[in-house]
Parts: sequence; C-alpha cells; structure tokens
Amino acid sequence: MSYKSVKRGNPKKETQIIAVINQKGGVGKSTTAINLSAALGELKKKVLVVDFDPQGNTTSGFGIEKEELESDIYDVLLHDADIAESVCETPQKRVFVVPATIQLAGAEIELVSAMARESVLKEKIDKIADDFDYVFIDCPPSLGLLTVNALVAAKSLLIPIQCEYYALEGVTKLIESMKMVKSRLNSNLEIFGVVMTMFDSRTTLSKQVVEEVENYFGNLMFKTLIPRNIKLSEAPSHGLPVTMYAPSSKGSVAYAKLAKEVIRRG
Ligand SMILES: Nc1ncnc2c1ncn2[C@@H]1O[C@H](COP(=O)(O)OP(=O)(O)OP(=O)(O)O)[C@@H](O)[C@H]1O
Ligand SMILES: [Mg+2]
Repeated sequence: MSYKSVKRGNPKKETQIIAVINQKGGVGKSTTAINLSAALGELKKKVLVVDFDPQGNTTSGFGIEKEELESDIYDVLLHDADIAESVCETPQKRVFVVPATIQLAGAEIELVSAMARESVLKEKIDKIADDFDYVFIDCPPSLGLLTVNALVAAKSLLIPIQCEYYALEGVTKLIESMKMVKSRLNSNLEIFGVVMTMFDSRTTLSKQVVEEVENYFGNLMFKTLIPRNIKLSEAPSHGLPVTMYAPSSKGSVAYAKLAKEVIRRG
C-alpha cells in the first residue's frame, strides 16, 4: 500500500521532524527509531523513519530486504531518485521507511562537492514531510556531513543515552555541534527529549546515570526509562518491531509508554 493512501492521525498539526542522534555507537538509536515509531503507529499516528545510517539497521529491523530495493536514501540524496518512490511499507500499519544500504557510506565523501551540501537531506524530506505526523531520522554514530545534514533537516533532536559509565561523555560534543548548526544553518533547532536506554533497575549504576542525566537535562529527560530487555535485541532478527514480536514484553510496554509521552510533548 502506498503511504499516500494512509491518513494522518492529526493532519492539522505541524509535522515533527526529529533526528534520533548520539554520536556514541550502540546506545539504542535504531532500537528507539524502530520501536518508538511502531508504538506511535499503534496509536494511530502516521510515521516516516528515514534510515540515515549506512549500517541500515532500521531498514533490516523492519524486515526490509535490502537486495530487493529499487532505490534507497543514497539514490535520493545523490542521484535524484524520487524520495516518494523510495518509501517502503513496514510490518506496522501507518509506519513507513526510507531505507538505507551500505551505499550511503559513499555519501559522506560525495556530498562534499555537492551544492548546498549541508541541506540536501532537508530539501528531500521537506517534499513529503507534510504527509506524516512524525518523521524520525535514524543517525549514524558520527558527527560527519551525514549527521550535519540530519541536524539541518530536523526541527528537534531525540537523544538516546545508555545507562552506562561515561553516559554523558560525547553528549557535550553533540550539543556543541547542535549549537554550531543552530547558529549558521537551522536557527530553530531544539532538543525534543532525552531517552534513557538499557536501564537495569537492579543496579545502582543505572540509577546514578539517570540522576546525572536528569541533573544535566532536567525536564527534557523522558520519565519513561527503557529497560534492558532481551526481546528488544531479538526483534530485529525477525524483521519486526517489538510491539509485534513480543507485545507484552517489558521493552514493548516501555516504548508504548514513551510514545504516549512523546505525543503529549508534541
Ligand atoms: N533496551 C535494550 N535492551 C536490550 N538490548 C538493547 C536495548 N536497546 C538496544 N539494544 C541492543 O543493543 C545494540 C545496540 O542498539 P542499537 O543498534 O539500537 O544502537 P545504535 O545507537 O543505533 O547503534 P549504532 O550507533 O551502531 O547505530 C543492538 O544489538 C540492540 O539490539
Ligand atoms: Mg543505529
């Protein structure tokens, strides 16, 4: 089914364009992009996830076969493929993906010589964003030109932070990049929220990290903590969001709760 025939949950509201970002690897960006989107889809929101990481974890996590794609985000960025035509269905109703494959790794270098190289992604996303309630951009773990494109395309940032030692390390660097982009290229950019991932209620470390992040970010930190949960790590290998793979698991319940908080925030 084409995304065009699916109705938005609230067509009058401005579309949220949110980059899921943290240059630290493995903190739960893709897991959050997949499962938060799916949970929002369940709540009748129409969602687009732009996979903007050459690893393509969000693409494969939704069970999309990379070999069978006619075009991906790389073709859209650099070879004038139509973004509307690259949009794929996912197993979750109302949730769609612009997929990524390893091709995207080349974009980091090829974009350098492109016109308005920092705003190529924005130009493409803006063509179809109005068709969705939420657009998420799943960022790669780096602060290169791809990430700058995501920071220019987004209206706000969702920062997943893993409940681990040195959780805030690197986040100050991310905030610096955000400020740089804000002052030169995207003056309205703001933080949508911070989500704590892989929380383990049995450890004092997890609790300390949450406290530390709350001291730093205040109310920007979502109250919902995403627990460490095996179902969340198993679901991608089945090509399903956890809401479908294991709907009653702790991980699924947590992302459903997070989705409600996200909707309340905007
Ligand atoms: N809450 C969780 N409980 C258990 N495992 C998790 C949880 N969140 C993420 N994981 C697992 O941790 C690993 C890293 O998660 P994920 O791929 O979402 O991070 P990422 O920030 O997108 O990584 P990258 O920076 O490489 O893109 C994955 O194997 C994922 O399945
Ligand atoms: Mg990822």
